[in-house]
Amino acid sequence: MKKIILLLGLSVVIFANTDKNLVDAKCTICHMNKQPSALERQNLIAPPMFGVMNNVGLYFKDDKKAVTDFIKTYSLEPNQKNSKCESRAIARFGLMPSQKGNVTKEELDRIANYLYDTYLKNR
Ligand code: HEC
Repeated sequence: MKKIILLLGLSVVIFANTDKNLVDAKCTICHMNKQPSALERQNLIAPPMFGVMNNVGLYFKDDKKAVTDFIKTYSLEPNQKNSKCESRAIARFGLMPSQKGNVTKEELDRIANYLYDTYLKNR
């Protein structure tokens, strides 16, 4: 029994880790995953992820389905009309380039769930 629990725990860690790696590979290059320092703030090319997720969470009132659907749609079709909360960000950084071709729908599904669970689930 102990072994099974250990194995279960381990696989949870490995899966979570894989989803994090996916986000790091596909999104963190533009959306920093930590508070930027003063210098980093001047050189940002996109809003940091915690800021993005904070806005998205406020807009959709932390509704998991609405949040994950939005992340999936916006990543493939970013445009002014789809944008919910980042009009200042668009003015500063320009529109996010579509990630079509860079990320599959399956990967986006995992990414959206990971982002929700990491930034919004327990707040
Ligand atoms: C090449 C840089 C780049 C990459 C890669 C990138 N983004 Fe973005 N993203 C931006 C910029 C710039 C903005 C701010 C302008 C805007 O909202 O379009 C943004 C905004 C967003 C928003 C906010 C939209 C809104 O209206 O509130 C979400 C959500 C988002 N990105 C998710 C993602 C996810 C998920 C990934 C990884 C699959 C990703 N982004 C990869 C540049 C990028």
